[in-house]
Amino acid sequence: MQPNPERFLADLHTLRSFGASGVGRGVVRPAYSDADMAARDWLAARMQAAGLDVSFDPVGSLFGVARGPSLLLGSHSDSQPEGGWLDGALGVIAALEIARASREAGGPPVSVVSFQDEEGRFGVTTGSSVWGGALTLDAADALLDRDGVTFAEARARMGARCGAFVDPAQFTGFIEMHIEQGPTLITSGEKAGVVSAIVGIRDVKITFGGQQNHAGTTPMGLRRDAFQALSAFNARINDRLRPVVTPATVWTIGQVALHPNAASIVPGRVTFSMQWRDGDSDRLRRMEEVIRDTAAEVAAEMGLSLDYGPMLGLEPVAMDGRLRAGLEAAAEAEVPGNWRVMPSGALHDATNVARLMPVAMLFVPSIGGISHDFAEDTDETDLVTGLTLLARAVAALQ
Ligand code: GLV
Ligand code: MN
Ligand code: MN
Repeated sequence: MQPNPERFLADLHTLRSFGASGVGRGVVRPAYSDADMAARDWLAARMQAAGLDVSFDPVGSLFGVARGPSLLLGSHSDSQPEGGWLDGALGVIAALEIARASREAGGPPVSVVSFQDEEGRFGVTTGSSVWGGALTLDAADALLDRDGVTFAEARARMGARCGAFVDPAQFTGFIEMHIEQGPTLITSGEKAGVVSAIVGIRDVKITFGGQQNHAGTTPMGLRRDAFQALSAFNARINDRLRPVVTPATVWTIGQVALHPNAASIVPGRVTFSMQWRDGDSDRLRRMEEVIRDTAAEVAAEMGLSLDYGPMLGLEPVAMDGRLRAGLEAAAEAEVPGNWRVMPSGALHDATNVARLMPVAMLFVPSIGGISHDFAEDTDETDLVTGLTLLARAVAALQ
């Protein structure tokens, strides 16, 4: 099979035009936004033109299915609130090009997927979590985005497009190509990463409740200030986690809602996201204990209430040996000695699909190691190298 680099890059740029941010090559295409749904409709038409049987599942994940048992390739086409043009999109368009190229060459059937809400407007990799069975549709429907919209309300926006779940039994395995989103490959100069395992994650919303009051008249000693509680929690947590974590462990407070968020009001409530990731489930559990103990300590000291939202999470997942060996052999043929085996610190739909079938992942370099930012980018020759490498692996694995 001969994937066509020009057609691949042209489709990648067309996908970028849906929700283009106007800053660099950035995109704003969160799940179920108008831009996301328009992009999915365009992708559905491209899949149909490639001879695939197209359908949306109940949450809006888009499948283009080839006849007969097939490998499934793909990723997601939704973006972060401020996202790059390649996160997810690369895997979807590479899958589309390989499905087309294989069909043109009379090669093995290849199916394509673009999962919905991988970026977690509502949860953590929501669309593939539901398909893979880590999350029930009822539980997903109750999840809220940061503006209080439910998943049920959001997916209803996809209207008549949505049909039944696609039967995973027809797929022999899943391979997801993705940008690395970190500094490893760009620093070493290597052109590809074959993923060994994907880290696990925990993600929870924490709320400190104090007393909203006048910022001029309330003596410092009488305040129950929610921002001061968050500030104290954040100041303590790094030290408290130190005995438990490794240099590869990460944790992030990325979203904060301070109420009522006004200069002359002592804030009465803060809700913030606490997220942590590691390759070891037991370490994730021990980190949770430290986080809960530290939050409880701060709340007790400062006289605030403490509440938790639902604890979301995915366990670490190792890649399938046979599919991984196929990618390694293709990497050695395409870029001899210039690739590596590496773990993924980012979450991916492959984690959930691993509950249904063997999975593997391929990375290409990220310029500056930057992602989840409008500045995210990859040299287009590196994108094409990844495409060619993936096509070689698919041809050999069928
Ligand atoms: C997915 O985008 C992640 O947060 O790793
Ligand atoms: Mn992604
Ligand atoms: Mn992402």
